[in-house]
Amino acid sequence: MRNEVVLITGANGEIGHGLITRLGEVANTHIVALDLKPLDKHLLPYCDRFIQGDILDKMLLGRLIAEYEITTIFHLASILSTKSEYNPVAAHEINVEGSINLLRLGVELSQWQGRSVKFIYPSSIAAYGLPDLKTKEEEGKIKEWRWCTPITMYGCNKLYCEHLGKYYANHYRQLAKDRIKNSIDFRCIRFPGLISADTIPTGGTSDYGPEMLHSAAQGEPYSCFVRPDTRISFMAMPDAIKALLLLEDAPRSSLTQLVYNVTSFSPTAKNLYDIVKKAYPDAEINFKVDPSRQAIVDSWPADTDDSAARDDWGWEPDYDMERAFNDYLIPAIKSRYSKKDA
Ligand code: SER
Repeated sequence: MRNEVVLITGANGEIGHGLITRLGEVANTHIVALDLKPLDKHLLPYCDRFIQGDILDKMLLGRLIAEYEITTIFHLASILSTKSEYNPVAAHEINVEGSINLLRLGVELSQWQGRSVKFIYPSSIAAYGLPDLKTKEEEGKIKEWRWCTPITMYGCNKLYCEHLGKYYANHYRQLAKDRIKNSIDFRCIRFPGLISADTIPTGGTSDYGPEMLHSAAQGEPYSCFVRPDTRISFMAMPDAIKALLLLEDAPRSSLTQLVYNVTSFSPTAKNLYDIVKKAYPDAEINFKVDPSRQAIVDSWPADTDDSAARDDWGWEPDYDMERAFNDYLIPAIKSRYSKKDA
Protein backbone atom coordinates (compact mmCIF):
# COMPACT_ATOMS: atom_id res chain seq x y z
CA MET A 1 0.00 0.00 0.00
CA ARG A 2 1.52 3.33 -1.04
CA ASN A 3 1.38 6.33 1.28
CA GLU A 4 -1.25 9.02 0.70
CA VAL A 5 0.56 12.33 0.39
CA VAL A 6 0.17 15.90 -0.77
CA LEU A 7 2.72 17.11 -3.30
CA ILE A 8 3.99 20.68 -2.96
CA THR A 9 6.04 22.21 -5.77
CA GLY A 10 8.04 25.38 -5.16
CA ALA A 11 8.24 24.18 -1.57
CA ASN A 12 11.05 26.54 -0.68
CA GLY A 13 9.18 29.65 -1.81
CA GLU A 14 7.20 32.07 0.32
CA ILE A 15 3.86 30.28 0.15
CA GLY A 16 5.64 26.92 0.43
CA HIS A 17 7.15 27.96 3.77
CA GLY A 18 3.79 29.01 5.15
CA LEU A 19 1.91 26.02 3.78
CA ILE A 20 4.40 23.36 4.89
CA THR A 21 4.61 24.80 8.37
CA ARG A 22 0.82 24.86 8.69
CA LEU A 23 0.23 21.42 7.14
CA GLY A 24 3.05 19.98 9.19
CA GLU A 25 1.13 20.88 12.32
CA VAL A 26 -1.94 18.99 11.12
CA ALA A 27 -1.81 15.37 12.21
CA ASN A 28 -1.59 12.74 9.49
CA THR A 29 -0.66 15.08 6.64
CA HIS A 30 2.16 13.52 4.70
CA ILE A 31 4.08 15.94 2.53
CA VAL A 32 6.31 15.32 -0.46
CA ALA A 33 8.08 18.60 -1.22
CA LEU A 34 9.79 19.50 -4.48
CA ASP A 35 12.02 22.46 -5.23
CA LEU A 36 14.96 23.36 -7.44
CA LYS A 37 16.92 24.55 -4.43
CA PRO A 38 17.72 22.66 -1.21
CA LEU A 39 14.83 22.88 1.25
CA ASP A 40 15.10 25.26 4.21
CA LYS A 41 16.21 23.03 7.09
CA HIS A 42 13.36 24.31 9.26
CA LEU A 43 10.87 22.75 6.84
CA LEU A 44 12.53 19.36 6.56
CA PRO A 45 11.01 17.88 9.76
CA TYR A 46 7.50 18.50 8.39
CA CYS A 47 8.10 16.61 5.14
CA ASP A 48 8.04 12.88 4.53
CA ARG A 49 10.39 13.49 1.68
CA PHE A 50 12.11 16.36 -0.05
CA ILE A 51 13.11 16.01 -3.69
CA GLN A 52 15.52 18.54 -5.12
CA GLY A 53 14.55 18.69 -8.76
CA ASP A 54 12.95 20.50 -11.65
CA ILE A 55 9.26 20.54 -12.59
CA LEU A 56 10.44 20.42 -16.21
CA ASP A 57 11.95 16.98 -15.53
CA LYS A 58 9.19 14.63 -16.72
CA MET A 59 11.10 11.52 -15.66
CA LEU A 60 11.29 12.79 -12.12
CA LEU A 61 7.56 13.54 -12.05
CA GLY A 62 6.80 10.13 -13.56
CA ARG A 63 8.70 8.38 -10.79
CA LEU A 64 6.37 9.93 -8.23
CA ILE A 65 3.45 7.96 -9.68
CA ALA A 66 5.10 4.68 -8.71
CA GLU A 67 5.96 5.77 -5.23
CA TYR A 68 3.07 7.80 -3.86
CA GLU A 69 -0.68 8.02 -3.74
CA ILE A 70 -0.88 11.79 -4.34
CA THR A 71 -4.30 13.10 -3.34
CA THR A 72 -3.60 16.83 -3.73
CA ILE A 73 -1.06 18.84 -5.69
CA PHE A 74 -0.27 22.35 -4.46
CA HIS A 75 1.53 23.66 -7.51
CA LEU A 76 3.32 26.71 -6.12
CA ALA A 77 6.49 26.83 -8.25
CA SER A 78 6.74 29.89 -10.46
CA ILE A 79 8.90 32.83 -11.48
CA LEU A 80 7.40 36.13 -10.28
CA SER A 81 6.58 39.20 -12.33
CA THR A 82 9.75 41.32 -12.27
CA LYS A 83 12.09 38.37 -12.72
CA SER A 84 9.94 37.06 -15.57
CA GLU A 85 10.41 40.30 -17.50
CA TYR A 86 14.18 39.75 -17.54
CA ASN A 87 13.81 36.33 -19.14
CA PRO A 88 10.32 35.92 -20.57
CA VAL A 89 11.03 32.64 -22.37
CA ALA A 90 12.47 30.99 -19.26
CA ALA A 91 9.47 32.32 -17.31
CA HIS A 92 7.12 30.77 -19.85
CA GLU A 93 8.92 27.45 -19.54
CA ILE A 94 8.70 27.32 -15.76
CA ASN A 95 5.30 28.95 -15.36
CA VAL A 96 3.45 27.31 -18.25
CA GLU A 97 5.31 24.15 -19.29
CA GLY A 98 5.96 23.39 -15.63
CA SER A 99 2.25 23.73 -14.92
CA ILE A 100 1.16 21.52 -17.80
CA ASN A 101 3.63 18.87 -16.64
CA LEU A 102 1.98 18.92 -13.22
CA LEU A 103 -1.51 18.79 -14.75
CA ARG A 104 -0.46 15.78 -16.85
CA LEU A 105 0.94 14.15 -13.73
CA GLY A 106 -2.41 14.81 -12.04
CA VAL A 107 -4.32 13.09 -14.88
CA GLU A 108 -2.05 10.07 -14.76
CA LEU A 109 -2.25 9.83 -10.99
CA SER A 110 -6.00 10.03 -11.16
CA GLN A 111 -6.16 7.17 -13.65
CA TRP A 112 -4.03 4.94 -11.43
CA GLN A 113 -5.85 5.93 -8.29
CA GLY A 114 -9.37 5.82 -9.72
CA ARG A 115 -10.40 9.19 -8.30
CA SER A 116 -9.82 12.82 -9.08
CA VAL A 117 -6.71 14.61 -7.89
CA LYS A 118 -7.11 18.04 -6.32
CA PHE A 119 -4.96 20.62 -8.04
CA ILE A 120 -4.59 23.82 -6.02
CA TYR A 121 -3.08 26.66 -8.00
CA PRO A 122 -2.11 30.15 -6.82
CA SER A 123 -2.72 32.78 -9.47
CA SER A 124 -2.32 36.50 -8.95
CA ILE A 125 -3.65 40.02 -9.33
CA ALA A 126 -1.08 40.11 -12.16
CA ALA A 127 -3.72 38.30 -14.26
CA TYR A 128 -5.43 41.70 -14.53
CA GLY A 129 -4.22 44.56 -16.68
CA LEU A 130 -5.92 47.92 -16.35
CA PRO A 131 -5.21 50.40 -19.13
CA ASP A 132 -4.74 53.56 -17.03
CA LEU A 133 -5.04 55.01 -13.53
CA LYS A 134 -8.45 56.55 -14.22
CA THR A 135 -9.88 53.12 -15.06
CA LYS A 136 -8.10 51.61 -12.04
CA GLU A 137 -9.76 54.15 -9.78
CA GLU A 138 -13.19 53.80 -11.37
CA GLU A 139 -13.04 49.99 -11.28
CA GLY A 140 -12.31 49.80 -7.51
CA LYS A 141 -12.87 46.24 -6.29
CA ILE A 142 -12.58 44.22 -9.47
CA LYS A 143 -14.56 41.05 -10.31
CA GLU A 144 -12.76 37.94 -11.56
CA TRP A 145 -13.79 38.31 -15.20
CA ARG A 146 -13.00 42.02 -15.64
CA TRP A 147 -9.84 43.33 -17.35
CA CYS A 148 -8.11 39.99 -17.85
CA THR A 149 -5.61 41.73 -20.12
CA PRO A 150 -2.26 41.37 -18.31
CA ILE A 151 0.79 43.35 -19.40
CA THR A 152 3.48 41.09 -17.86
CA MET A 153 4.78 37.70 -18.92
CA TYR A 154 4.00 36.41 -15.43
CA GLY A 155 0.43 37.72 -15.66
CA CYS A 156 -0.03 36.15 -19.10
CA ASN A 157 1.36 32.86 -17.77
CA LYS A 158 -0.90 32.88 -14.71
CA LEU A 159 -4.02 33.73 -16.71
CA TYR A 160 -3.27 31.03 -19.29
CA CYS A 161 -2.62 28.43 -16.57
CA GLU A 162 -5.98 29.32 -15.02
CA HIS A 163 -7.52 28.48 -18.40
CA LEU A 164 -5.43 25.31 -18.67
CA GLY A 165 -6.64 24.23 -15.26
CA LYS A 166 -10.27 24.84 -16.22
CA TYR A 167 -9.71 22.97 -19.47
CA TYR A 168 -8.21 19.97 -17.69
CA ALA A 169 -11.05 20.03 -15.16
CA ASN A 170 -13.91 20.28 -17.66
CA HIS A 171 -12.92 19.52 -21.24
CA TYR A 172 -9.70 17.49 -21.30
CA ARG A 173 -9.70 15.14 -24.34
CA GLN A 174 -13.31 16.10 -25.03
CA LEU A 175 -13.37 14.31 -28.38
CA ALA A 176 -11.87 11.01 -27.18
CA LYS A 177 -14.09 7.91 -27.18
CA ASP A 178 -12.42 6.66 -23.99
CA ARG A 179 -12.57 10.03 -22.30
CA ILE A 180 -12.31 9.88 -18.52
CA LYS A 181 -13.98 12.80 -16.82
CA ASN A 182 -13.08 14.59 -13.59
CA SER A 183 -9.43 13.57 -13.45
CA ILE A 184 -8.38 16.99 -12.21
CA ASP A 185 -10.27 18.86 -9.52
CA PHE A 186 -8.75 22.25 -10.32
CA ARG A 187 -9.14 25.12 -7.84
CA CYS A 188 -7.41 28.46 -8.11
CA ILE A 189 -6.96 31.59 -6.03
CA ARG A 190 -5.88 34.97 -7.37
CA PHE A 191 -3.69 36.33 -4.61
CA PRO A 192 -2.80 39.95 -3.94
CA GLY A 193 0.73 40.90 -2.85
CA LEU A 194 1.70 38.67 0.07
CA ILE A 195 3.63 39.72 3.17
CA SER A 196 5.28 37.15 5.39
CA ALA A 197 7.26 37.54 8.60
CA ASP A 198 9.44 34.53 7.73
CA THR A 199 10.52 35.12 4.16
CA ILE A 200 11.18 37.91 1.68
CA PRO A 201 9.91 37.46 -1.88
CA THR A 202 12.32 37.37 -4.78
CA GLY A 203 11.59 38.84 -8.16
CA GLY A 204 8.05 40.14 -7.64
CA THR A 205 6.68 43.63 -8.26
CA SER A 206 4.56 43.83 -5.11
CA ASP A 207 7.85 43.34 -3.25
CA TYR A 208 8.01 46.99 -2.15
CA GLY A 209 5.58 46.13 0.68
CA PRO A 210 7.55 43.29 2.28
CA GLU A 211 10.91 44.85 1.39
CA MET A 212 10.05 48.12 3.15
CA LEU A 213 9.12 46.26 6.32
CA HIS A 214 12.01 43.78 6.38
CA SER A 215 14.58 46.50 5.57
CA ALA A 216 13.29 48.67 8.42
CA ALA A 217 13.43 45.71 10.80
CA GLN A 218 17.05 45.10 9.87
CA GLY A 219 18.01 48.78 10.16
CA GLU A 220 18.72 49.02 6.44
CA PRO A 221 17.72 52.02 4.28
CA TYR A 222 15.07 51.35 1.63
CA SER A 223 14.10 53.07 -1.61
CA CYS A 224 10.51 52.29 -2.51
CA PHE A 225 10.22 51.91 -6.28
CA VAL A 226 6.59 53.09 -6.61
CA ARG A 227 4.86 56.42 -5.92
CA PRO A 228 3.38 56.98 -2.43
CA ASP A 229 -0.18 57.03 -3.85
CA THR A 230 0.18 53.59 -5.50
CA ARG A 231 -2.52 51.21 -4.33
CA ILE A 232 -2.86 47.43 -4.65
CA SER A 233 -4.19 44.82 -2.27
CA PHE A 234 -1.96 42.89 0.13
CA MET A 235 -2.49 39.94 2.44
CA ALA A 236 -0.65 38.54 5.46
CA MET A 237 0.76 35.08 4.79
CA PRO A 238 -1.36 33.26 7.43
CA ASP A 239 -4.48 34.42 5.58
CA ALA A 240 -3.06 33.22 2.25
CA ILE A 241 -2.51 29.77 3.74
CA LYS A 242 -5.96 29.84 5.31
CA ALA A 243 -7.45 30.62 1.87
CA LEU A 244 -5.60 27.74 0.18
CA LEU A 245 -6.71 25.25 2.81
CA LEU A 246 -10.31 26.47 2.89
CA LEU A 247 -10.57 26.18 -0.88
CA GLU A 248 -8.95 22.75 -0.84
CA ASP A 249 -11.41 21.59 1.77
CA ALA A 250 -14.58 23.01 0.19
CA PRO A 251 -17.10 20.49 -1.22
CA ARG A 252 -16.84 20.53 -5.01
CA SER A 253 -20.60 21.10 -5.22
CA SER A 254 -20.27 24.45 -3.43
CA LEU A 255 -17.90 25.90 -6.01
CA THR A 256 -19.65 28.06 -8.61
CA GLN A 257 -16.36 28.93 -10.31
CA LEU A 258 -12.82 27.57 -10.36
CA VAL A 259 -10.88 30.83 -10.06
CA TYR A 260 -11.48 33.05 -7.04
CA ASN A 261 -10.25 36.45 -5.89
CA VAL A 262 -9.27 36.85 -2.25
CA THR A 263 -8.33 40.11 -0.59
CA SER A 264 -7.82 41.53 2.87
CA PHE A 265 -6.47 45.11 2.87
CA SER A 266 -5.61 47.59 0.19
CA PRO A 267 -3.07 50.19 1.33
CA THR A 268 -1.25 52.85 -0.64
CA ALA A 269 2.54 52.68 -0.50
CA LYS A 270 2.30 55.73 1.80
CA ASN A 271 -0.02 53.80 4.16
CA LEU A 272 2.62 51.05 4.29
CA TYR A 273 5.31 53.67 4.91
CA ASP A 274 3.30 55.14 7.80
CA ILE A 275 2.71 51.82 9.54
CA VAL A 276 6.33 50.75 9.12
CA LYS A 277 7.58 54.13 10.39
CA LYS A 278 5.31 53.83 13.42
CA ALA A 279 6.94 50.53 14.37
CA TYR A 280 10.47 51.61 13.37
CA PRO A 281 10.67 55.41 13.78
CA ASP A 282 14.35 55.47 12.76
CA ALA A 283 13.74 53.61 9.50
CA GLU A 284 15.26 55.35 6.47
CA ILE A 285 12.70 55.01 3.69
CA ASN A 286 12.46 57.16 0.59
CA PHE A 287 10.51 56.95 -2.67
CA LYS A 288 12.55 56.60 -5.86
CA VAL A 289 10.17 55.62 -8.62
CA ASP A 290 11.22 53.03 -11.17
CA PRO A 291 8.90 53.97 -14.06
CA SER A 292 8.82 50.47 -15.59
CA ARG A 293 7.95 48.67 -12.35
CA GLN A 294 5.52 51.48 -11.50
CA ALA A 295 3.70 50.86 -14.80
CA ILE A 296 3.29 47.19 -13.86
CA VAL A 297 1.82 47.99 -10.45
CA ASP A 298 -0.40 50.69 -11.99
CA SER A 299 -1.87 48.01 -14.28
CA TRP A 300 -2.91 45.89 -11.26
CA PRO A 301 -6.26 46.58 -9.59
CA ALA A 302 -6.52 48.75 -6.48
CA ASP A 303 -8.50 45.93 -4.87
CA THR A 304 -10.46 42.83 -5.81
CA ASP A 305 -14.02 41.70 -5.19
CA ASP A 306 -13.83 38.42 -3.29
CA SER A 307 -17.55 37.97 -2.67
CA ALA A 308 -17.63 34.68 -4.62
CA ALA A 309 -15.01 33.16 -2.30
CA ARG A 310 -16.94 34.45 0.71
CA ASP A 311 -20.24 33.04 -0.56
CA ASP A 312 -18.98 29.71 -1.90
CA TRP A 313 -16.44 28.54 0.66
CA GLY A 314 -16.73 30.87 3.63
CA TRP A 315 -13.60 32.90 2.96
CA GLU A 316 -12.91 35.70 5.39
CA PRO A 317 -9.48 37.14 6.25
CA ASP A 318 -8.36 37.11 9.88
CA TYR A 319 -6.03 40.08 9.41
CA ASP A 320 -6.91 43.61 8.39
CA MET A 321 -3.94 45.94 7.96
CA GLU A 322 -3.67 46.94 11.63
CA ARG A 323 -3.87 43.37 12.86
CA ALA A 324 -1.55 42.08 10.14
CA PHE A 325 1.19 44.48 11.19
CA ASN A 326 0.57 44.83 14.93
CA ASP A 327 -0.36 41.25 15.83
CA TYR A 328 1.56 39.21 13.27
CA LEU A 329 4.23 40.89 11.13
CA ILE A 330 5.96 43.27 13.52
CA PRO A 331 6.17 40.96 16.58
CA ALA A 332 7.23 37.96 14.47
CA ILE A 333 9.80 39.97 12.51
CA LYS A 334 11.21 41.55 15.68
CA SER A 335 11.72 38.14 17.23
CA ARG A 336 13.16 36.74 14.00
CA TYR A 337 15.83 39.42 13.58
CA SER A 338 16.67 39.56 17.28
CA LYS A 339 17.36 35.80 17.18
CA LYS A 340 19.65 36.37 14.20
CA ASP A 341 21.59 39.04 16.14
CA ALA A 342 21.97 36.78 19.15
N1 SER B 1 3.55 39.03 -5.89
C1 SER B 1 3.49 38.85 -7.31
C2 SER B 1 4.54 39.61 -8.01
O1 SER B 1 4.83 40.68 -7.55
C3 SER B 1 2.17 39.27 -7.82
O2 SER B 1 1.24 38.33 -7.45
O3 SER B 1 5.01 39.18 -9.01
